Amino acid sequence: METMPNSLEEQWMPFTPNREFKSEPRLVVKSQGVHMWSHAGGRILDGSSGLFCVPAGHGRREIADAVHQQLLSNDYMAPFNLGHAGSFELARKLAKLLPDPINHVFFCNSGSESVDTALKIAMAYHGARGDHRRLRFVSRERAYHGVNIGGVSLSGMVKNRDSFPVVMPYVLTLRHTWLQQNRFQRGQGDEGADLANDLQRMVDTYGGQTIAAVFVEPVAGSTGCLVPPKGYLERLREICDANGILLIFDEVITGFGRIGAPFAAQAFGVTPDIMTMAKALTNGAQPMGAVAVKDTVYDAVVDAAPEGGIEFFHGYTYSGHPASCAAGNATLDIYESEGLFERAAGLSDYFLDAVYGLRDIELIGDIRGIGLLAAIDVKPGQAAGQRGAAMQKQLFMNGLHVKFTGDSGILAPQFIAEKDHIDEMIAILRKTVGEL
Ligand SMILES: Cc1ncc(COP(=O)(O)O)c(C=O)c1O
Repeated sequence: METMPNSLEEQWMPFTPNREFKSEPRLVVKSQGVHMWSHAGGRILDGSSGLFCVPAGHGRREIADAVHQQLLSNDYMAPFNLGHAGSFELARKLAKLLPDPINHVFFCNSGSESVDTALKIAMAYHGARGDHRRLRFVSRERAYHGVNIGGVSLSGMVKNRDSFPVVMPYVLTLRHTWLQQNRFQRGQGDEGADLANDLQRMVDTYGGQTIAAVFVEPVAGSTGCLVPPKGYLERLREICDANGILLIFDEVITGFGRIGAPFAAQAFGVTPDIMTMAKALTNGAQPMGAVAVKDTVYDAVVDAAPEGGIEFFHGYTYSGHPASCAAGNATLDIYESEGLFERAAGLSDYFLDAVYGLRDIELIGDIRGIGLLAAIDVKPGQAAGQRGAAMQKQLFMNGLHVKFTGDSGILAPQFIAEKDHIDEMIAILRKTVGEL
């Protein structure tokens, strides 16, 4: 078991209040199945599958063995002009899982990289077709698309933008889909499809021929499980089709069974042109992201280049890293052989019943949920986010890990969780809210 390090000072921690954390550290020394263990000895139920990336459970031997074997047999090769079987195999498996005709996959190393890669693919696609007027990208309020400059430019979260004044120009922002009248709505609300007409207004104002792509998380994850109203994604698709605009789904959280189908595209029956993914692609065991595109997008870019010439001037030293691909292939095998997507879909009603059972608590202002993803909003304290931060810490002390964004706690149990684990999660949540 790992022990406490000699010093906490030198590491600058991500998205963490460093000074506070270092005065009161919470270290994880072991993780297995649905649990983690803290350095103080407590067992913690992982209520958010890490950061939504470990649905098959921690410490999966099949994945560890595959990575170990890969590192011993072929640890690395330069991915530009060289290949290895594992990345082609992973792309093939993904193409099988993805909705048709999304059959081509570009590998990167994180969700943030997948977003910036998708932006560049959209630009390359329009450029390859000689369509050079499409400078605008459309995103949405309350969107999270990672932390690279492209993703920050698309961000709908003010704190993630306001220290970084130099971002991409020409980004237009749709309204978010949280509606007061849909509070405590389970699944998709009946109200709000018309919010998609914000895109039509942009088309009417700027001209559809000036818009390259629309980026949306089908269910906004990081800002608290904002489920799209019925008809909303369909309407976006319609407007995109009518104007030659690419529709891009950021499925970094929703991908791989989280909301009742392999991808949200299938759950909602709306197929985007480009899809980003990461997180559960390797069950969190190796960093990896990917961008999947329709055949027409791939063909347009590849066919436009002269024979023998590089078609897309983009790639990473670790694109399709052998160890990440080994983890990805082993992970997809586990999902299939254990029927984990079906298991997740089967557990959804029990999970959502349990979460919505918390609605009697006065301090809870809203609950949203779909599949095995839900958010509970605690009513703000003196400042926005203060109560959420206090609750996250207290939950950990009480034996439950939950990812909070501001005052929204985002629940995402592992697909291997048993009903008992859901009951335990809810009991700890109820107890902890009572202690605030
Ligand atoms: C929708 C979405 N896009 C992109 C990202 C960024 O992924 P990463 O943290 O792997 O860069 C996230 C992370 O939570 C996400 O939820």
